[in-house]
Amino acid sequence: MTSYPKTAALMRRGAEFLGSEHAILCGAMSWVSERNLVAAISNAGGFGVIACGAMTPELLDAEIAGTKALTDKPFGVNLITMHPDLFELIEVCARQGIGHVALAGGIPPKGSVEALKAFGAKVIVFAPTLALAKKLLRSGADALVIEGSEAGGHIGPVSTSVLAQEFLPALAEDHLVFVAGGIGRGEAIAGYLEMGAVGVQLGTRFACATESIAHPDFKKAFFRAGARDAVTSVQIDPRLPVIPVRALRNKGSELFNAKQREVANLLDAGELEMAEAQLQIERYWAGALRRAAIEGDVEHGSLMAGQSVGMVTQEEPVAQIIATLMTESEAALNRR
Ligand SMILES: Cc1cc2nc3c(=O)[nH]c(=O)nc-3n(C[C@H](O)[C@H](O)[C@H](O)COP(=O)(O)O)c2cc1C
Repeated sequence: MTSYPKTAALMRRGAEFLGSEHAILCGAMSWVSERNLVAAISNAGGFGVIACGAMTPELLDAEIAGTKALTDKPFGVNLITMHPDLFELIEVCARQGIGHVALAGGIPPKGSVEALKAFGAKVIVFAPTLALAKKLLRSGADALVIEGSEAGGHIGPVSTSVLAQEFLPALAEDHLVFVAGGIGRGEAIAGYLEMGAVGVQLGTRFACATESIAHPDFKKAFFRAGARDAVTSVQIDPRLPVIPVRALRNKGSELFNAKQREVANLLDAGELEMAEAQLQIERYWAGALRRAAIEGDVEHGSLMAGQSVGMVTQEEPVAQIIATLMTESEAALNRR
């Protein structure tokens, strides 16, 4: 018997799809969503997702094996669509029998969804517009995450509350939709479940869990920050479209501007193609996040964080965070 009957009833389809007790995903966070955090989330009844990020196929293989050693619960893998070895990474997931793969960072390239479905994986996609979401769901995606601009990391331009109103009435009856971005408390989870979501995805709230390997100084920066400190990067050259990134304000923002100038100059000189220019920008972010999250250089690295960072005030075990979220959601639904 669950202690959260109303929340569990609204999460039923999502939890069945994930094979977890609660339909709460911990969104993939590069460097942070490795074996320890992923296994802790799944062991606590949520659904952990390994962030493949810029990992090589060999590293991903080792990370999956390491996670399996720490949990026998289901967990997923998040692959970035622009990764040059995407299809090799998919083969690694196939060999390892991964049940759920999220394709993030852009429209899944031709054949990728098919390659995942060929070995029985359930495919989770992100879509910035309703039209694209419908197309991806028609062409085989099993579930959708809508992620609003409140989120940490790479973001789109539209807030979670507006995306939820656009997507859920249109899709929730026939499809599995998870809501992400700006969720820090269970009351918000209850609200999105009532609108038809089958579950939620959180990143910022879990980044500083006890089990997270993020550097203590990275965690301290989160505990000190408020919503308005989590700002978006700016694009400084109109020819070089960069996906905005939400992170805590620090000197790293200036370094990113310098990097954009450097890449724009190479574009000007004809020394770089646009696709390579964008890859360089993405590699920059991967390096900058590692610098802050792993090495602890919170001045010059990237402190990717969502606006819910103000609700992250102390280090807590994952199980406690999940219990708090479920309790808050249940209390909210009981007040209705
Ligand atoms: C530090 C950090 C790193 C992230 N890295 C990735 C990533 O590598 N791939 C990805 O798809 N999403 C990434 N995200 C987004 C999360 O998976 C998740 O969708 C998001 O954090 C949810 O919004 P919230 O931060 O408001 O909870 C990252 C988020 C954070 C905070």
